[in-house]
Amino acid sequence: MQVVDMRSVVIYHSHSGVTRGVAGHLSKILGSEMIEVTPEKEYSSFMVVPKGCYRAVKGLADPIRPQTIDVSEYDILIIASPVWAGKPTPVINGAIDALIGCQGKKVYAIMTCRSAESGHQALMTFVERLKKKGLVIFKTSVLDSNASADESVIEGICSDIRNI
Ligand SMILES: Cc1cc2nc3c(=O)[nH]c(=O)nc-3n(C[C@H](O)[C@H](O)[C@H](O)COP(=O)(O)O)c2cc1C
Repeated sequence: MQVVDMRSVVIYHSHSGVTRGVAGHLSKILGSEMIEVTPEKEYSSFMVVPKGCYRAVKGLADPIRPQTIDVSEYDILIIASPVWAGKPTPVINGAIDALIGCQGKKVYAIMTCRSAESGHQALMTFVERLKKKGLVIFKTSVLDSNASADESVIEGICSDIRNI
């Protein structure tokens, strides 16, 4: 498998493992580094719906680990988030706020979700937030439960990234 010359990083949040799986697959094919972002205070399974969805809908950003994410050494960023209540998660919002050295960088934005319709809705908010941070969106993907597990879909994303 060809590895791209440019330096890429996959920055992602994953509550239940789907986005982590997608990120791992992408990074393996592309030779990208991976940065998993976690909330300082983990969401319990009891609180993730009421608290997580509330914060997602409000567009709030969680305090996260790592506290800052310096991407100045990368040519391309892949940023992936699950959808919570039709929005990007407060954890990925925290990750976007934590980016340093991202001005003008190209980003591939990915949403994983149960329903593609909901994913496309969340993507609009996600893209807006990434643009506000000075990132340049070159491509996006919405991966529903089937697409997240489909190797040919992941390989398609990799080939888009290689062809920049
Ligand atoms: C709190 C919560 C809210 C969710 N809300 C939505 C939603 O509005 N629309 C949707 O399609 N999927 C929704 N989902 C499903 C996840 O977005 C989807 O399963 C995702 O791929 C999970 O990624 P992860 O395993 O990396 O956390 C929600 C899941 C959780 C935990």
